[in-house]
Amino acid sequence: MSRIDTAALDQLFTHARSIHRFADRAVDDDTLRALYDLLKLGPTGFNAQPGRYLFIRGADAKAKLAEGMSSANREKTLAAPLNVVVAYDTRFHEHLPTQFPAYDAKAFFDQSPDWIEPTARTNATLQAAYLIFAARALGLDVGPMSGFKADKVDSAFFPDGRYRSLLLANIGYGLREGLQPRGPRLAFDDAVSVL
Ligand SMILES: Cc1cc2nc3c(=O)[nH]c(=O)nc-3n(C[C@H](O)[C@H](O)[C@H](O)COP(=O)(O)O)c2cc1C
Repeated sequence: MSRIDTAALDQLFTHARSIHRFADRAVDDDTLRALYDLLKLGPTGFNAQPGRYLFIRGADAKAKLAEGMSSANREKTLAAPLNVVVAYDTRFHEHLPTQFPAYDAKAFFDQSPDWIEPTARTNATLQAAYLIFAARALGLDVGPMSGFKADKVDSAFFPDGRYRSLLLANIGYGLREGLQPRGPRLAFDDAVSVL
């Protein structure tokens, strides 16, 4: 392994921004598949992969999604070429015999049900981050949002209760005009300790 080049670092981190305004350009199915094929490779505990991804393009589904958005996020959600609801599967552990054959992890969760929800949330949150960086690697921009009513989104899209929404995002080819300057990041000494 070697350090990736500066252009790649710029695309993923240094120049990348959270973007909510997009060019009038669709995100095609091949790109969606490429996005999933990258994000799925990010690590999760027990290789459990609890994240589930509902991509939304159609007008009816967008209108349903917009109902659950905070007023500050509604307009940009409707205008984006693509939205994703990142949810977690509350029964992710049923897949563990296949996903993690090395060890009987399903039995652990069957016997320790209190661990299911926090494990699902932690790992699906990580997967949401993998989605953001996979999208950036493919030349897309992402605007993540937690400003939505999860109970409304869940009853609209996951009525059987198995999946629970965690994070929403707008996705597309971003427009930077009018973007506020990047907010400052904490300095190394303010955020990091080394013992
Ligand atoms: C978990 C999460 C929730 C966020 N929620 C919202 C939101 O509801 N609405 C919004 O406009 N931006 C939202 N953002 C965008 C953040 O404000 C943005 O990522 C942050 O200010 C850093 O901006 P930058 O990536 O352009 O430097 C959210 C970002 C994250 C990661």
